Amino acid sequence: MAAASGFATSLSSTNCSIHSEAKLKYDCRSNSLRICGSSNCSVACFPPQTRIFCNNSRYKAVIPVTKSFRLNPRCEVAPNAEIPPRSSNLMALELLKTSAANRYTKESSSIVVVGLNYRTAPIEIREKLSIPEAQWPQAIGELCALNHIEEAAVLSTCNRLEIYVLALSQQRGIKEVTEWMSKISSVPVPELCQHRFLLFNKDAAEHLFEVSSGLDSLVLGEGQILSQVKQVVKTGQGVPGFDRKISGLFKHAIRVGKRVRTETSISTGSVSVSSAAVELAMMKLPEFSHASARMLVVGAGKMGKLVIKHLAAKGCRRMVVVNRTEDKVASIRQELKGVEIEYRPLSDVLACAAEADVVFTCTASETLLFSKDQVQTLPLVGSHVGGQRLFIDISVPRNVGACVSDIETVQVYNVDDLKEVVATNKEDRLQKAMEAQAIIIEEVKQFEAWKDSLEAVPTIKKLRAYAERIRASELEKCLSKMGDDIPKNQKKAIYDLSVGIVNKLLHGPMQHLRCDGNDTRSLNEILENMHALNRIFSLDTEVALLEQKVRAKVEQNKKGVS
Ligand SMILES: NC(=O)c1ccc[n+]([C@@H]2O[C@H](COP(=O)([O-])OP(=O)(O)OC[C@H]3O[C@@H](n4cnc5c(N)ncnc54)[C@H](OP(=O)(O)O)[C@@H]3O)[C@@H](O)[C@H]2O)c1
Repeated sequence: MAAASGFATSLSSTNCSIHSEAKLKYDCRSNSLRICGSSNCSVACFPPQTRIFCNNSRYKAVIPVTKSFRLNPRCEVAPNAEIPPRSSNLMALELLKTSAANRYTKESSSIVVVGLNYRTAPIEIREKLSIPEAQWPQAIGELCALNHIEEAAVLSTCNRLEIYVLALSQQRGIKEVTEWMSKISSVPVPELCQHRFLLFNKDAAEHLFEVSSGLDSLVLGEGQILSQVKQVVKTGQGVPGFDRKISGLFKHAIRVGKRVRTETSISTGSVSVSSAAVELAMMKLPEFSHASARMLVVGAGKMGKLVIKHLAAKGCRRMVVVNRTEDKVASIRQELKGVEIEYRPLSDVLACAAEADVVFTCTASETLLFSKDQVQTLPLVGSHVGGQRLFIDISVPRNVGACVSDIETVQVYNVDDLKEVVATNKEDRLQKAMEAQAIIIEEVKQFEAWKDSLEAVPTIKKLRAYAERIRASELEKCLSKMGDDIPKNQKKAIYDLSVGIVNKLLHGPMQHLRCDGNDTRSLNEILENMHALNRIFSLDTEVALLEQKVRAKVEQNKKGVS
């Protein structure tokens, strides 16, 4: 497996206490697991089947802020937990507020990613969760309707389904998102919990930056993932819920993806899923049949086009392409002058497969194009290609039924099988990944600073409100001491005086809190000022803000139900 590879590990024990903000770190070299707080680390023990998400040189499994628990750290949701009916949400909110440990006091809005990818989940699970691009806006809407989710984005590719959210509470947000994922996929929550990974704030940003840079791809440095991240932003434009922080995160990820590709050698000689698919076919075919094997490509979108191009680069001079419509095939034909490309409509797909030795499938079809029954009826292929028809299916959801591989005269490969091809050249991958990592670390810092700068807005509001409260109460005291007989114009003069003093006093601090977020140096100053003001005036009352937001959402949902 490649350097940037994932894995699962098991450790025994059942009960752990974790400090708030604690992180779980896996040390690849010592093979030990540690819980790291802000200043120290201690060795931890976790229940069986704890999955640790492994990424390049870092291994991440970040535990949400919590005092003590006995669950899989990647599965804080009780397996049979259900979302309460909306009518009971208000009651639940009250319960929650009065619970012994008011958990909101420990939390502020967090960026959370709840995801499954090719490292953590097999294609059988991923394909059930795949969300077509046309449904991303609806998914964002549904996610943001959840009580603890403010903003959302969906990154659904053949390798991953990752839901990025701005959550008002980490634990409740994760629970709600996981249950939503279960609802849309019919994969039970406990099964999702076995395969999902969770990352928070800085780690979530770092992960997305690695994704957009191609560092987290099955095929290191491949370019399609950056286009897919761009597509998330394009599709999300104007969609309520794809708001400031999450859209800012994705826009920043695009910048990082571009930067890594221009400043490092990550994409030098890089391959794609399509070229790996062609490579796999070549590995499976007898060498002397490479040029003569009858090739069929089903699908002429981005992936289909790349398959065709790579086949041509391998010396294939004739191929059949099946697609719903002919225009894309015609334009590929224009580009590849020396290659004979025969177009056939989708209705001919089975007939075309009957005349092919190798079938590549790369369509966005939600339904199977080849079932076991259909493939069983196909004539056998000749011994010159090894006597076995190859199906290389890079589609997610798959286009070729899982049972097709039961047929003796057929070999079926899917995207997960491409690991065999890309596992080569580990050293080179590691070197490239390290170059990119330095940029990513720098960019994460910048993103965090930008995100923190947004926090200046609540500080400004809170400082104003604080001053206003003092002004109003002092004014009231003063006026009551002066009695009812003072004329209106004097009352007004005293009122104006109080407002004037407050405004003059606030002018300086406000100036030091405002910035446009582009200048890193002044941004750092602003953050320092913000933290200082929060400290001096005890403004860190995020709880009230969160509560207000949750209450508003619950009310909104209640109205939606009635
Ligand atoms: N993009 C990637 O990086 C990547 C990587 C690995 C795997 N994949 C997988 O490869 C597949 C194709 O991706 P893509 O990026 O090439 O998408 P794309 O550019 O949008 O092309 C989609 C292709 O699927 C065809 N198609 C759509 N709906 C269909 C249906 N109901 N029945 C039959 N054909 C249908 C389209 O035909 P028309 O031309 O007639 O519309 C087109 O040929 C997807 O399953 C994707 O998950 C993509």
